[in-house]
Amino acid sequence: MIIPALILTGTLCLKAQSVKPIYLDETRPIEERVKNALSLMTLEEKVALCHAQSKFSSKGVARLGIPEVWMSDGPHGVREEILWDSWSEAKWTNDSCTAFPALTCLAASWNPEMSAIYGKAIGEEARYRNKTVLLGPGVNIYRTPLNGRNFEYMGEDPYLASRMVVPYIQELQKNGVAACVKHFALNNQEIWRGHIDVELSNRALYEIYLPAFKAAVTEGKAWAIMGSYNQFRGQHCCHNDLLLNKILKGEWNFDGAVITDWGGAHNTMQAATNGLDIEMGTGTDGMTRSVSNAYDNYYLALPYLDELKKGTVPESVLNDKASRVLRMIFRTTMNTKRPFGSFATPEHAQVARKVGEEGIVLLKNAGNILPLDASKLKNIVVIGENATRPMTTGGGSSNLKAKVEISPLKALQKKYGSKLTYAMGYASGAPAWGRELPSKSNTDTLRAEAIRKAKNADVVVFIGGLNKNHFQDCEGGDRKSYNLPFGQDELLDQILKVNKNVVVVLVSGNAVAMPWVDRVPAIVQAWYIGSEAGNAITSVLSGEVNPSGKLPFSFPVKLTDCGANSFDKLCYPGDSVHEVYKEDILVGYRWYDTKNITPLFAFGHGLSYTNFVVSKPQTDKKTYTKDETVKLTFTIQNTGKVAGAEVAQVYVTQINAPVLRPAKELKGFKKVFLKAGEQQTVSISVMVKDMAYYDEKSNNWKVDSGEFALNLATSSRDVKFTLPIQVK
Ligand code: BGC
Repeated sequence: MIIPALILTGTLCLKAQSVKPIYLDETRPIEERVKNALSLMTLEEKVALCHAQSKFSSKGVARLGIPEVWMSDGPHGVREEILWDSWSEAKWTNDSCTAFPALTCLAASWNPEMSAIYGKAIGEEARYRNKTVLLGPGVNIYRTPLNGRNFEYMGEDPYLASRMVVPYIQELQKNGVAACVKHFALNNQEIWRGHIDVELSNRALYEIYLPAFKAAVTEGKAWAIMGSYNQFRGQHCCHNDLLLNKILKGEWNFDGAVITDWGGAHNTMQAATNGLDIEMGTGTDGMTRSVSNAYDNYYLALPYLDELKKGTVPESVLNDKASRVLRMIFRTTMNTKRPFGSFATPEHAQVARKVGEEGIVLLKNAGNILPLDASKLKNIVVIGENATRPMTTGGGSSNLKAKVEISPLKALQKKYGSKLTYAMGYASGAPAWGRELPSKSNTDTLRAEAIRKAKNADVVVFIGGLNKNHFQDCEGGDRKSYNLPFGQDELLDQILKVNKNVVVVLVSGNAVAMPWVDRVPAIVQAWYIGSEAGNAITSVLSGEVNPSGKLPFSFPVKLTDCGANSFDKLCYPGDSVHEVYKEDILVGYRWYDTKNITPLFAFGHGLSYTNFVVSKPQTDKKTYTKDETVKLTFTIQNTGKVAGAEVAQVYVTQINAPVLRPAKELKGFKKVFLKAGEQQTVSISVMVKDMAYYDEKSNNWKVDSGEFALNLATSSRDVKFTLPIQVK
């Protein structure tokens, strides 16, 4: 029997007890539920949805049983709980997470399946901890090696970042936790990030800096996005009409919630009208002391309510904001079917290890000094602070309280036992927010010990790089120099004078200068791998795992080789007020290849312990229309003695273009796993529409008719075959 919600008989009004209100009825479409919930809310309740109630949460509607929104950093582990109204740790004993590899490492796997298992696992951790929103992933483009936060992002190429970000979001959100893609947009440096006003062409904006965000929204279907701290064309990005209203919500039809970066809102009228939905972290008293009602002082709290009551801002816009927050809550916390999640499990550790192993990049291996064969080595000396230094702590908001962090030294000791000795060699200070602390160790003593041990070693494994200190790979400041810090170049120079068998393992999320590159036989780029760092590095050094990572950004020889760093200060870091991206669309390898500057290590580069032979590719046709897809087919054979994986990369060149086009641009790739001796036929599809450029005259994407070349390559510099095609 169907019981109507309301039975009206004359003046008699009987309320049926058992009927659910529409907004709680999960069989109904979300839009209907949102509309219904909104219709039941007061103006004050709607405004309350639009700003923080604590450091990491915002209100729901308690009266209607609509839960609060709880957010957590992100992007490579679920951060520990902190206090309601301060940044101090809450000291819970059940919030030690799995630290997953930082996103540069994920991107270096060049394997979207790694993004999928990563997103699933981190989503399960966030769900278990009852989070509504995970503040990540980050897809700001790598513009300069000095940016302190490059390690949190997916490299210099919009296509690679787009392909890698989508599965992360899709799998994360299957847990009923919203991804919050950050930092939208143009937060490409930390220095002056709170106010620097970025100027660049529409073409560079659309071709380089927006595509990964667009993919996250239109393909990944992210339920939230975070505005960035900086300004763009005179407006802060957290309330930027062009970025949020016109592009994100207009062109891309984003239906989720725009959340500020913490303290990214600056103005009530702009916050009210320029596309912001939830304001977090604003510096009222609530930031530093617990004053009752401090959160009511937020731009989108009482000041907004006042404007609404005065009628200076329309309620329709508030309804849109509240609807977006409700939609996000219905998709997450109010989805009673969402799974329960799991936390810091052995399975998640396996995911962290696997992604780490696939992301590590073998940059150089002269004379096949790697892998390190235990049966042939009697005396292995490990040198360097990064062999023991925890890297899950520090770095800013991505700081993690990890359940486990296995150091490289610990894992190497387990593998090589008493054959292995250690010397620290150099030292840095402890990580501290916004400050650089000096080391308390005596550098001369450390260095002397390292050189003494290096003299008698069969092989020296130098584990150095950057760390998570201020002015290194860390939020809130940029690196001061492209060189290795803490005297590592000098130390390496001295080690190389007493022993030539040096393997350098770089733990960093950024490129570094390598004045010793020609004297060192092997170099491994090992990123920040998190909980399983030591195990993943040891698997690769020992040959248990054959390295298959490829660089997601180029390593220039010197800083001024990099586009952003080759102009005046206005181009980087700006004059403290403005910054102009003078390199325009030529970011990363687009710059090096177009300007004929040889990089130290190219985008897409990465060696293996085996060899691959790529055959001449064929296209399915010679001429294509603009809505067709080019299918490139070829074989790859593993001609060596061990199993391994090669990443086939397709770069497109437009011949005789009417506008400047980069020498080549990545438009397709595939990671192919092959047993020793195995051969596979591989196909990579490239959509002709992806060969477009952003035409500034029509303000739209355009594919010219004419000749294009498809370059089949194993790095942006290692092109194996070039095939011409015609577009009509
Ligand atoms: C960072 C964000 C982070 C937020 C909350 C900000 O300083 O820029 O990435 O999510 O803090 O911790």
